[in-house]
Amino acid sequence: MQAQNEDAEVQALRLSDFHLLPCKGCLACVLKGESCRLDDDMHVLWKHFQWADAIILSAPTYFLGPAGIIKLLIDRLFEYSLQISQMTTRPGAIIATAGLQNWDPFTLPMLSMLSGILRLQPVDRFVAYRPGPGEVLLDEATVKRAQEIGKTLVRQIRQPEYTVALDSPKHGCPQCGTIFFQFRGPNQVECQLCQAHGEIIQKGDSFEIVWTSDDGKHRWSPEAMAEHFSEWVLRTGPVYQQLRADILQRIQKYRDLPIIKNLSKGKSPT
Ligand SMILES: Cc1cc2nc3c(=O)[nH]c(=O)nc-3n(C[C@H](O)[C@H](O)[C@H](O)COP(=O)(O)O)c2cc1C
Repeated sequence: MQAQNEDAEVQALRLSDFHLLPCKGCLACVLKGESCRLDDDMHVLWKHFQWADAIILSAPTYFLGPAGIIKLLIDRLFEYSLQISQMTTRPGAIIATAGLQNWDPFTLPMLSMLSGILRLQPVDRFVAYRPGPGEVLLDEATVKRAQEIGKTLVRQIRQPEYTVALDSPKHGCPQCGTIFFQFRGPNQVECQLCQAHGEIIQKGDSFEIVWTSDDGKHRWSPEAMAEHFSEWVLRTGPVYQQLRADILQRIQKYRDLPIIKNLSKGKSPT
């Protein structure tokens, strides 16, 4: 609404209003360059994603992470990997909700993954905590922060040279803001989400991570995405074709298993 007040054209999409089917992993989209065979609304969503100059991603926390439809969307974006890697970055933001602090470990990381895949540069990202649906609206500070995001995004679109210093959580990855690290050697850490690298340095009685990969090289950089796509994903195709006959033979006994078909079509038994 704040962006609208600044005369920006705004579209709000509620994922659950769209008919979205889960990816079946056939890989026809990337290996054969075909449009997805699933007959649903993904192409409609994609048109909106392409149209936008900036995108705010939002989700409530359900069971420690964002609502499941977020992962479903992420998987379906695989079809558009190549197109996305060729798109310029756009400003974005992440506004999530959760009932309780420390009950949301996967919420920002998953939304940051979606943001990275869509090549958004977040101007802000945060979780607002309140237990009931819509209750965050009672927090003036939260509403103000969201309004600020609307204003900032419009300003960044109109003045691309206007940059925003994004707060990272304490000890968080400066690239994606999350706190999922893996040790790589005695004092090296790697962000599991974006693959930024850091070094653990002792400072007096405590330790801190000094991030070394501030050179723009990370999993979601256009170079890394294009390389992953052309040097790995596409190269697996011809190898798979050679192995396919053998795989199909081995898979048959699993296909022959009796699979329970859902005949109720969502209707509860009477
Ligand atoms: C199915 C379900 C699971 C939930 N699981 C969590 C959870 O793991 N952690 C948490 O902090 N909140 C959890 N919540 C609470 C919601 O995140 C909370 O109600 C949130 O404020 C809703 O946001 P909204 O105002 O955007 O609807 C859950 C809510 C539902 C309906």
